[in-house]
Amino acid sequence: MNGIDLLGMEDLSRADIETFLETATHMQEIGRRDVKKVPTLRGRTIVNLFFESSTRTRTSFEIAGKRLSADVVNFTPSASSLSKSESILDTAKTLDAMDPDAVVIRHGVAGVPKRIADELSAPVINAGDGAHEHPTQALLDLLTVYEEKERIDGLTVTIIGDIAHSRVARSNIQGFLKMGAEVRVAGPPTMIPAQVETLGVKAFGSLREAIDGADVVMALRIQRERLSGAFVPSIREYAATFGLDRAKLRFAKDDAIVMHPGPVNRGVELAHDLADRRPSVVLDQVRNGVALRMAVLYLLAGRHRERAL
Ligand code: NCD
Repeated sequence: MNGIDLLGMEDLSRADIETFLETATHMQEIGRRDVKKVPTLRGRTIVNLFFESSTRTRTSFEIAGKRLSADVVNFTPSASSLSKSESILDTAKTLDAMDPDAVVIRHGVAGVPKRIADELSAPVINAGDGAHEHPTQALLDLLTVYEEKERIDGLTVTIIGDIAHSRVARSNIQGFLKMGAEVRVAGPPTMIPAQVETLGVKAFGSLREAIDGADVVMALRIQRERLSGAFVPSIREYAATFGLDRAKLRFAKDDAIVMHPGPVNRGVELAHDLADRRPSVVLDQVRNGVALRMAVLYLLAGRHRERAL
């Protein structure tokens, strides 16, 4: 692994990704036990620093740390000195002086985790920065596809929705390409970045063409809070054109799976009966999120202490 931070899929080689996935399969096994706890990170401290709201990612990191017996501290910016206008960097340095073994950061502005990582001695894990990257989401998605298909090489993966503003899309595009899949994207023209082909993907304006023969169909959340008519005429029209239901899914492979990073707007990106039933694997993604984050914490927070010795 190059370096000790996990800031984005852009920094990872195929071998790095394989190391995370392989370690995560061992962690999945711990998740199936009656007592889901091992002493691996006993005495280590992990700080969860979430400047942007999150339910599943923050909880997932917390459960992952606890299953490895680490002490997990959740830092809530509004309740801290940040409301007294202490800068993010000063807050990070203060936390670092407390000598954590890893710091997990989510922030609304792209590049903040990198900026903080440059100042900290502890490993920094990006849990989502603006529209930039969300590497643990991409890794857990790769793990879920690997679990279902036993390979990633040669698969066709279609990502649908607001590609232009999605950190999940950016990280997944890089992850799936590095692992040898063909990646297609589809959405209204306002949601497809200009020159998206330079990323190595094929872009489609029609859902039917985009999912034709696909092994994996991944829908992204429509961010209603930011949309308000700016990118699509209406949510109803988006649902009719790009929302997935069983009828549209006929064009994909017979054994295609449906993914979504959550939270799902039922009846918008996914029809009600697709949100949590096969071929949807949305809840497997959540389950695998814990195992994958255990692997990340084990590989990064464990290494930090070895280096210090
Ligand atoms: C995503 C995020 O916050 O980037 N959710 C998640 O982490 N599971 C996607 C989203 O909010 O649309």
